[in-house]
Amino acid sequence: GLPGRVTIWEVGPRDGLQNEDTVVPVDVKLEFLDRLADAGLTTVEATSFVHPKWVPQLADAEELLAGLTPRDGVRYPVLVPNERGLDRALAAGVRHIAIFASATETFASRNLNRTLDSQMAMFEPVVSRAVAEGLDVRGYVSMCWGDPWEGAVDPAAVVSVGRRLLDMGCSQLSLGDTIGVATTGHVAALVDAFTAAGTPVSALAVHFHDTYGQALANTVEALRHGVTTVDSSAGGLGGCPYAESATGNLATEDLVWCLDGLGVETGVDLDKLADTSAWMATRLGRPSPSRVVRALRG
Ligand code: HMG
Ligand code: MG
Repeated sequence: GLPGRVTIWEVGPRDGLQNEDTVVPVDVKLEFLDRLADAGLTTVEATSFVHPKWVPQLADAEELLAGLTPRDGVRYPVLVPNERGLDRALAAGVRHIAIFASATETFASRNLNRTLDSQMAMFEPVVSRAVAEGLDVRGYVSMCWGDPWEGAVDPAAVVSVGRRLLDMGCSQLSLGDTIGVATTGHVAALVDAFTAAGTPVSALAVHFHDTYGQALANTVEALRHGVTTVDSSAGGLGGCPYAESATGNLATEDLVWCLDGLGVETGVDLDKLADTSAWMATRLGRPSPSRVVRALRG
């Protein structure tokens, strides 16, 4: 069966904007964050405290958080790769962070300039210090179903990386299909592999990019396997500058349209959200890749 309610983890301001050619002005980002919360999203990944040369689109993280008016019931997690990033996030008053690991050697090197093992050594002090400060820590695992350089990825390797992040103290794992190659059978197999290894399904979230048009089907499959937290991006923005052939995330509008139809609660107002993505598309100078946004506002 399907869950009665799904928590949407909105990643547009981070995964979406990190991949745009243009650097969006900080006041536009702040309006985006406000409009997403107005539309009923309660978890909005705001930005990344990564090296500004690696992701110049998000180099304004300090300024963004300084301008953000906190709202009751809304959390604004940020990406943090290392202790330098954690120092910056703590100084900005952040309460929720996400570390991001790779399931493959090649992407660990391309995205983090580390080996599989040395990425773990980088994350360990981040998680222990963050937990000691009372922060909530999410762990992403990228390339869970395929890697542009290495091809298919063994579910056992993904489970091993994910278990290490949970053992470090992450409260949740987000399983990333960074390049959008998974199909429903692969999704079921990986969720089952985690449960077989003793990970409660309540600790899992899914993060699908829509490169091959499978993101929504894959999400529904994950929900049928007990997952209740889903990552998506308003208007379908997104991608990873360090992963070849990564396109946008599952569009939040496409997800909400589907879940509304299935009677699964999200708390999101689809009209307000589509207005927001149509507005953002004008700011970015290109139409939203979301089918639902185009159908409603095209
Ligand atoms: P590095 O070059 O190995 O860094 O990069 P380093 O540790 O050798 O440090 C070099 C210099 O950078 C030092 O300065 C550090 O202080 C500075 P120096 O002493 O030479 O003057 N530095 C920093 N400055 C500001 N903030 C920091 C920071 N760290 C070091 N945080 C590093 C390693 C991890 C920093 C780099 O590789 C990086 O920033 N990578 C981030 C890449 C990224 O953001 N990718 C996109 C997000 S992941 C994604 O999109 C996938 C996801 O959506 C899930 C999915 O779809 O699968 C999450
Ligand atoms: Mg992503």
